[in-house]
This record gives sequence, structure tokens and C-alpha cells, in this order.
Amino acid sequence: MRKSLRSFRTMRGGSRLLARRFATSHNSRLSKIFVGNFVVAKNFGYPKFSQGANLQNYNMKYSLEHAKKTYRLWGRHPLWYKFACIITFLGQESKLRKLTVEKLELKHGDTVLDLACGTGLNHKFLEGVVGPDGKIIAFDYSNEMLTAAKQRAKENKWNNIIFVQGDAAQLSLDTKVDGVLSTLGISAIPQHKEALKKAVDALKINKIISILDAQLPSGFWSMFNPLIAYVYKHWASWDYTKNMPEDLRQLISDIKMKQYNGGTIYIIHGTKNAP
Ligand SMILES: C[S@@+](CC[C@H](N)C(=O)[O-])C[C@H]1O[C@@H](n2cnc3c(N)ncnc32)[C@H](O)[C@@H]1O
Repeated sequence: MRKSLRSFRTMRGGSRLLARRFATSHNSRLSKIFVGNFVVAKNFGYPKFSQGANLQNYNMKYSLEHAKKTYRLWGRHPLWYKFACIITFLGQESKLRKLTVEKLELKHGDTVLDLACGTGLNHKFLEGVVGPDGKIIAFDYSNEMLTAAKQRAKENKWNNIIFVQGDAAQLSLDTKVDGVLSTLGISAIPQHKEALKKAVDALKINKIISILDAQLPSGFWSMFNPLIAYVYKHWASWDYTKNMPEDLRQLISDIKMKQYNGGTIYIIHGTKNAP
């Protein structure tokens, strides 16, 4: 009994020492996350640890090249990407993707744009509403993500998906669409305002754009914000400083927004009116 108590104390002492070493170890980026919010804030441009801060003043400084590199890796490992989605959606992925698609009010035979489609995780839901006579335009910048989406389409015998590689900020389609969908996409697009504008331009009058994206938690869970911001910025090119609802409101005045998963996921949608 005494012996095990002693070894437990030794272990506890050892792990404390390790933790202290880790926390104070020079300039290790990771250690800074745990050392304190202030240091992290300075390093990663994190404004204040509340969402009330004026986020628009902070530049995330990441580029199209960064997005390309990041998604090259995820595209080559679609199963890892799927796992990352399960975590991001806190297990509510299917429900929330389906809900975002439903907001589009699509009919059989419609054409829909999936902007920044990634590995095609929305396509199952889109196929369900547009049917084999409809069309899905799957648009993404990453060749590797598109390759994974093509593979998914092949396995499921979806023959009505048109895959287009390009920068969403330069989007130019030769047809107008009956709906625009983007899930976790806009926050990863460096020039997202241009992309939103181009997406709304591609939409037919009286048709809907539906966007699902993520935001940092507030309240109790906000203590993890530096870590979440760091991980998703570096491994998902995620820019949490974008104010998407406001940016979309500049293009579509009547937008509706609802939050899910304790406010970490939101869906916004709106109808394009005649000018
Ligand atoms: C987090 S993933 C989301 C993928 C998918 N929509 C989903 O819900 O799983 C972000 C996607 O945005 C794409 N992306 C980033 N910048 C882009 C750009 N400028 N134009 C088009 N796609 C872009 C990435 O290649 C990646 O596939």
C-alpha cells in the first residue's frame, strides 16, 4: 500500500515537473497556448476572449496557398477529414448538413452549386433532393479534395455531378443555379467577400443561398478558444474573424440565422430578390 502511494507521488511529481518544463519551454508555439490567453492572443492575433470584440480588425494572414497546402493533406486522407468533421459537428453532422440542404427548397431536376464542396460530404443529401435529373456543380480549389469527391460520386454511381476546380473568388459559371450551398467553406476561402458576391450572382432570382459555418464558443467553453483557433487556423485555414452573416446581409437583405451545438455552428440562408 505504502509502496504504491510512494510511486503514485513520484509519478505526480514527475508529471508536474514535465508540465512546468513544457509550459516554460522557450518559444514553443504549443506551450504558449497553455501558458496563457494573453500570449496566445499576441501570437495569433486573437482579439479578446469573447465574441463581442470587434473581430473585423484582426487579420488572419493566411492565403490561397495555405488553403491549398492544408486541403492537399485532407484530400489525400478523406477518412481523417471525415473524422475531423465528426469532431467539428460534435456528432451532429448528418442532421446539420441535411438541414442546410433543406433550407434551399430544391426540387427534382434543379441545378445546385456546392461551393467549396471538399470531399463531397453534402452530395448524398443534395442527390436526395435534385434526383438523377438534377445537377450538382461541385466547386473547390483543392484538386485533392475534388479527387476524393469524384471517388465518392463513382462509388455511389452519382453521374450528375460536374466537378470544377478554381478559386471561389473568381467563380464564373455559364449557367444560373437554383440554389447555392456552402458548408464550412466560406470561412476557409481567403477572399470570402468576393466569393459570396460571385455565388449570389450565380443564383437565379427568387432562389436561396444556404451557408453553414462554425464560430468560436462563448461562455464556459471560450477558455478553449485559443486552442480551437490555433488548431483550426493551421489545419483548416479557418478564419474565425469573418462576420459572415453581416457580409451576406450586404448582398441579401433578408437573411435568417440559427445557431446549433451551443452556438458553435450556425446556418444562414436568404433569398435573392429581383434588383
Ligand atoms: C473545411 S473544408 C469544407 C468542405 C466541405 N464543404 C464540407 O462541408 O466538408 C473547406 C474547403 O474549402 C476549400 N477552399 C478553400 N479556399 C477556397 C477557394 N478560394 N475557392 C474554392 N474552394 C476553396 C478547400 O479546398 C476545402 O475543400
